[in-house]
Amino acid sequence: MPLLEVKGLVTHFKVRDGWVRAVDDVSISLEEGRTLGLVGESGCGKTTLGYSITQLLPSNAVVKQGSIIFNGKDLLAITRKKDGTLREYHPDITKIRWKQISMIFQGAMNAFNPVYRVGDQIIEAIKIHEPDVPKDYPSGLKLHQIELVELARKAVRSSLPYGKTIESSDHKEIRQKGTEMILAYAQIAEQAAQALLDKYGGQFLKDGKKIPAHVLVEDALPLVKAKARSIPFPPVGPNHTPSAVAHDIATLITRYLTDEDRALLGEGGAARRMAENLANMIIRFPNGAAKQRVRELYRFVGIPLDRIDNYPHEYSGGMKQRAMIAMALVLNPKFIIADEPTTALDVIMQRRILKEMQKLQREFHMSMIIISHDVSVVAEIANHIAVMYAGKVVEYGAARQIFKETAHPYAEALLGAFPSIRGAKKRLATIPGNPPSLLNPPKGCRFHPRCRYAGEICAAKEPTMVEVGPGHFSHCHFAREFAAKTLEVRR
Ligand SMILES: Nc1ncnc2c1ncn2[C@@H]1O[C@H](COP(=O)(O)OP(=O)(O)O)[C@@H](O)[C@H]1O
Ligand code: SF4
Ligand SMILES: [Mg+2]
Repeated sequence: MPLLEVKGLVTHFKVRDGWVRAVDDVSISLEEGRTLGLVGESGCGKTTLGYSITQLLPSNAVVKQGSIIFNGKDLLAITRKKDGTLREYHPDITKIRWKQISMIFQGAMNAFNPVYRVGDQIIEAIKIHEPDVPKDYPSGLKLHQIELVELARKAVRSSLPYGKTIESSDHKEIRQKGTEMILAYAQIAEQAAQALLDKYGGQFLKDGKKIPAHVLVEDALPLVKAKARSIPFPPVGPNHTPSAVAHDIATLITRYLTDEDRALLGEGGAARRMAENLANMIIRFPNGAAKQRVRELYRFVGIPLDRIDNYPHEYSGGMKQRAMIAMALVLNPKFIIADEPTTALDVIMQRRILKEMQKLQREFHMSMIIISHDVSVVAEIANHIAVMYAGKVVEYGAARQIFKETAHPYAEALLGAFPSIRGAKKRLATIPGNPPSLLNPPKGCRFHPRCRYAGEICAAKEPTMVEVGPGHFSHCHFAREFAAKTLEVRR
């Protein structure tokens, strides 16, 4: 059984003018310990596919069809709501995300906060996400307050991409204020929660049990705000005036309301930030264990240990990227999605990082999807390759098949557009025209306006996936003829 099996996935974005059909009937699978390369021009839906798998889609995304089976579990069956949007939090997804599936985000290199040491930022990530590290609470917290914070932690763990975790360093100052402030926060939140319960009679969502309620949390805001004003602490940063904090708390509380109730209030980053603050302030991990882990990871990714306490600007681009990879590995995930992990690096550094990722992958028997617009990036590291065009996988097969027995005109054009590192020098072909708008993609085969082999049928009818060789598929009306031609030319 494959580790990951995506079947007939349709993920669209709702925009003002209609639907952006970013992922449109995509199927891929990945065996344990293997690497899948996902390639295609910018805008063809690679990142959206990655986010669909990690269930981190933006709020205007709707999964219209399909299944994503990971490790035998249908992830969409857990998170997909009736309207096709995905639930942000669910205990079963919490267990999987980051711990089993991790993601290196596109452009993640710039995600380090410039004013904190890189090592500290990775320690942050460990503290927030690693439930196994022993924690200790400041004394004086009542049990119900600890419970509240545990809820906040749950929310944080299930939803935060690492990029967001890093932002939490902004709140170091708040954290340094210590226990007093924590207690104040917890008390406010607790009282506000109590006020809501009193008013509406115990309508919170707890342990997955949905108790219908029509809670307008707005009602609780004045109370929370009044409380917050009476607490003497300085505003920290432009967004952290007492009333902003109070608002955060109120939004946090709404997390534990039903979906419908939350819909009334709208989504926002406020609850997340508050949850982060709470979690960071209250749960103090002994730093020793986390630091030790950072050292191990630095050794793995090849950054000298004396760099742990440097600031991001003291790192080279390659080092930052490695540190980012280290961060994605903190929880020993069994599966990583690396979205354009080397795009910002020079060619030499690209190769070095890729080699290291390959080594790590073998050492830990990890599975990986590596996303790139550049075929040469995935050429040496991927076992299988999926070529995407305008929201569809147009060719899929073993890497050798894609390169030697190319069966789709777009894949051929894409391969021609990138220089081969080893092969003979040749003129680079370019693909004429631009990728289509996914708001209104061409009828028939989406590639037909740019395809030099297009026939009459191509504009009229969408092709189906044709198996041209064992496990080798092409989404083209002339797939067999094309594959035969390639074989002949390359012989
Ligand atoms: N939140 C969004 N809302 C609307 N359209 C989006 C959103 N995110 C991405 N898109 C569109 O979806 C398509 C696929 O984007 P993406 O998955 O980022 O492509 P890739 O990673 O291959 O460059 C593009 O047309 C992009 O403009
Ligand atoms: S179906 Fe037609 S237009 Fe599409 S790739 Fe094949 S030949 Fe080209
Ligand atoms: Mg992308």
